[in-house]
Amino acid sequence: MKISFAKPALPGTGTAVVAALAKGVLTPSAQKLDAKSGGAIKRAIRASRFEGNKGQSLNIIAPASTRLERIMVVGLGKGTDVTDLEMQKLGGTIYAGTRRIKSGKVAISVDPVSDANMTAAEMAAQIAFGARLRSYRFDKYRTKEKASDKPSLNALTIQCGRFADAKKAYASLGKIADGVFFTRDLVSEPANIIYPDTLAKQAKTLEKLGVKVEILGEAAMRRLGMGALLGVGQGSDRDSKMVVMQWNGAGTGKGKANAPIAFIGKGVTFDTGGISIKPSAGMEDMKWDMGGSGVVIGLMKALAGRKAKVNVVGVVGLVENMPSSKAQRPGDIVTSMSGQTIEVLNTDAEGRLVLADALWYCKERFKPKFMINLATLTGAIIVSLGSEHAGLFSNNDRLCERLSSAGEAVGELVWRLPMSDAYDKMINSDAADMKNIGGRGAGSITAAQFLKRFVGDTPWVHIDIAGVTWSKGDKPTVPKGGTAFGVRLLERLVADHYEG
Ligand code: BES
Ligand code: MN
Ligand code: ZN
Repeated sequence: MKISFAKPALPGTGTAVVAALAKGVLTPSAQKLDAKSGGAIKRAIRASRFEGNKGQSLNIIAPASTRLERIMVVGLGKGTDVTDLEMQKLGGTIYAGTRRIKSGKVAISVDPVSDANMTAAEMAAQIAFGARLRSYRFDKYRTKEKASDKPSLNALTIQCGRFADAKKAYASLGKIADGVFFTRDLVSEPANIIYPDTLAKQAKTLEKLGVKVEILGEAAMRRLGMGALLGVGQGSDRDSKMVVMQWNGAGTGKGKANAPIAFIGKGVTFDTGGISIKPSAGMEDMKWDMGGSGVVIGLMKALAGRKAKVNVVGVVGLVENMPSSKAQRPGDIVTSMSGQTIEVLNTDAEGRLVLADALWYCKERFKPKFMINLATLTGAIIVSLGSEHAGLFSNNDRLCERLSSAGEAVGELVWRLPMSDAYDKMINSDAADMKNIGGRGAGSITAAQFLKRFVGDTPWVHIDIAGVTWSKGDKPTVPKGGTAFGVRLLERLVADHYEG
């Protein structure tokens, strides 16, 4: 779908989208179109339950005295309802409502709204962003789908007064959408296509944006002593990898001020559970157990794409967790890069083992300002929070507050859970420094306590995204499937606090 911005003009053909405010008050463009279509809009509103509230819309098919195929009237609600997020949702809803139109052409008219906190150009850019986000589709393997079943909307024009400003604002939003789409692609691919080597190669494509990308193989990781990560991958025929990505948008001088911020991702390209094998029902979901790494890679793409003025590193640990004669056994004791030993009581609690070495490596090598890791870490977080919030665990209140505000701003919500010495004790082991599972309760928290043993004093946040990485239904800006939850959240965190 091509998205463009243009000056206001009454569209003669295709589908026209105009807006109404609360109590059905037509915007100036809606009034003009109403006049041109012989009062069709006002009549349709009177005949319907449409009141101009946010989220409402009304379709008028083939309005008389025009050559339009359709007029869509959308509700903006009150001026205070007009926010970035609501405009994105509106764009997504318009896309969903018009993607199958015959002409393939949609024009949206955007007027300034008094007592809104944004200009018409900003509204236009956010509407475009929302439409683009909703237009994602993973259909490369649907070889028999008829063209007539695919979306036909291919030209979306958004009209507003200062359309050059809208175009400029959308330029960087579009880069964020590119990052989101990359993550969704990686998460949607099956595990016979995306495994550690191929996922690392996907990360390598970021080099064309100026990201430095290094790939560590098993020999290098063995030299570094990453026994925890390597133990998880040892049952698989696919070699484990670690990918280190660096974007230096703020200059490369040495010293604390230039220290990077760091994002670390769990990249289990398929999680069978290993010898502690999972039940077969639903196991296919474990193709997206690399979701954390997918978000880190997509985030790097978004930041490099819009040339963010920040130094950032992304580290992803990539393994396939398989049962085999070479697989790690329950009871095995492994030595992590930190020197700490781990008794592996359940081979299905593998994500924390991968992250233990990725976090330690990142901390030692980069001495980052902070580390934020993302992981589809526990089923227990789905029991706690469902798919409305991701779980947040941290040793740093300020980072949590910043993440929580960024989440509200972009519509990717997080909820902090507690950590304490009492929970930490639950992973003490008689045989080694720690065990990789806690007791029966607090499964997400004991997993977080485990990670905390590998971050030292570095300000750190763990985001458990098991409940939000894959969506079973469509949402305004997120079609069902891989969500890329985390890309917009962390992009926003960076934009609000760590640039310039
Ligand atoms: N990848 C899973 C967690 C998961 C479950 C992600 C469902 C997405 C959807 C993780 O590796 C895992 O298996 N965790 C175990 C931990 C347990 C063995 C302590 C779990 O949650 O059951
Ligand atoms: Mn597992
Ligand atoms: Zn897993």
